[in-house]
Amino acid sequence: MKIAIINGPNLNLLGKREPGIYGSASFESFFDQLQQSHPHILFSYFQSNIEGDLVDELQRKGFEWDGIVMNPGAYTHTSVAIGDAVAAIKTPVIEVHISNVHAREDFRKISHVSAKCRGTISGLGLYGYELAVLALSLNKD
Ligand code: DQA
Repeated sequence: MKIAIINGPNLNLLGKREPGIYGSASFESFFDQLQQSHPHILFSYFQSNIEGDLVDELQRKGFEWDGIVMNPGAYTHTSVAIGDAVAAIKTPVIEVHISNVHAREDFRKISHVSAKCRGTISGLGLYGYELAVLALSLNKD
């Protein structure tokens, strides 16, 4: 099984960025552990601060890979293009947010991506990515 993880803007700063909200672990160290605990799954990891690069990665992975776990970061709340890309591809996408976006500013309650996704996980920290992987691996068609 092949699962792609895609992170949007500023998520390269996990561990350093507002640790009270996003925690003190880097994504790279979490990703190492994720790979070790699921040796039967082939993972890819892509992060970009650029909207079009995230659309390109969704298109690259979205027809051959079995699942995508995506945290679009702030583009969640602004990007029609990312929502359209998720709708356009065949691979199921699970949207993950580290923080509980519904407990924060009102603009974070809007997502252009959620309605196109298989499901959304918000507020469970990095554990949300692990749960998304589990859901995709159980849901394999
Ligand atoms: C985030 C929530 C977004 O509102 C924010 O812009 C992010 C991170 C999260 O993982 O909690 O960059 O997607």
